[in-house]
Amino acid sequence: MSQQVTRVSLRDVQRPVAGELEQVVLELRRVIAADFPSVSEVNDHLLQMKGKLFRPTLLLLSHQAAGSKDPRAVTLAAVVELIHLATLVHDDSVDHSVLRRGLPTINALFSHQIAVIMGDYLYSRAIIELVRLDDHEALRVLARVTNEMTVGEMRQLEAHDKLAYGEGAYDALIRAKTASLLSGACEVGALTAPANFRQALARFGMLLGMAFQITDDLLDYTEPEAVTGKPSGLDLREHKVTLPLIAALARMPAEGRTVVAELMDAAEPGDDLVAEVIRLVEGAGGLGTARQRALDLAQQAEAELDVLPASPARDALQGSIAYAVERRS
Ligand code: IPE
Ligand code: IPE
Ligand code: MG
Ligand code: MG
Repeated sequence: MSQQVTRVSLRDVQRPVAGELEQVVLELRRVIAADFPSVSEVNDHLLQMKGKLFRPTLLLLSHQAAGSKDPRAVTLAAVVELIHLATLVHDDSVDHSVLRRGLPTINALFSHQIAVIMGDYLYSRAIIELVRLDDHEALRVLARVTNEMTVGEMRQLEAHDKLAYGEGAYDALIRAKTASLLSGACEVGALTAPANFRQALARFGMLLGMAFQITDDLLDYTEPEAVTGKPSGLDLREHKVTLPLIAALARMPAEGRTVVAELMDAAEPGDDLVAEVIRLVEGAGGLGTARQRALDLAQQAEAELDVLPASPARDALQGSIAYAVERRS
């Protein structure tokens, strides 16, 4: 894939499943509904936070592209978004983030205690729904990936020697915390399809998911919060070592490494220090290298679609790759 990928809008990607996505939002509302006022209050806030619905989009496109006709697809898509939402609620508490989708996070608006409880509430609702659907295979895939995601989030906390954190460890981390769910979404969409379609889509989702997370890590360096709806530079402030920094450190002169070490040692690095490290990372080519890695993964993802018959849904899956690496939020 060339450095310049054609811009594909989310709308274009979602076009073949636009009607079903509207139903997904209604299903999500139904599945999380609570008769306990404090839970309803948090639910109302969560339903105001509009996300991209990227994972349900992938599930429904995979379903269509694989030629499946599973009446449960819309509900499964809502369940996948719900699992994502539960992990975001927990992730924002773990990352001490105050902004998500342009609105205050649950930990900021309510409390960390409420974020912990609500993450569990949402996840357990997802499980109840899967059990109600009586779809053992979907339950098997989604329970496995949710567990992988927790291990991924744990890996993130465990990077002790920040300056020695390598690309191998980063790869394992982004596979677990992000790509596993995108892969699971694609696979669940194709559960009733021939095995080779299901397997190719699972691999597609994994590669796409890695490219998606590398892009998210780049956006943390490059875009302001007004564009992403999330605080910018938060990864560095939280001492998170992502690919732009890993790639830059490999080439950074000793003076630069000293500044990075200073940031990693500061309990609460100031804006100036964060801005300086961002400049150093850019100067050492870290952003360019990370972007190239995302594009390489994108190209590998594209190859997995070759087994599928031509269709608007397959084209949209192809478009989702360009979208994942070109998006700004
Ligand atoms: C955010 O996911 C978490 C990551 C895995 C990077 P999205 O970028 O899909 O967030 P929403 O759902 O659109 O808010
Ligand atoms: C992805 O990592 C989080 C999950 C998979 C739950 P990030 O921590 O980078 O995601 P954002 O940037 O907060 O959305
Ligand atoms: Mg986060
Ligand atoms: Mg991020």
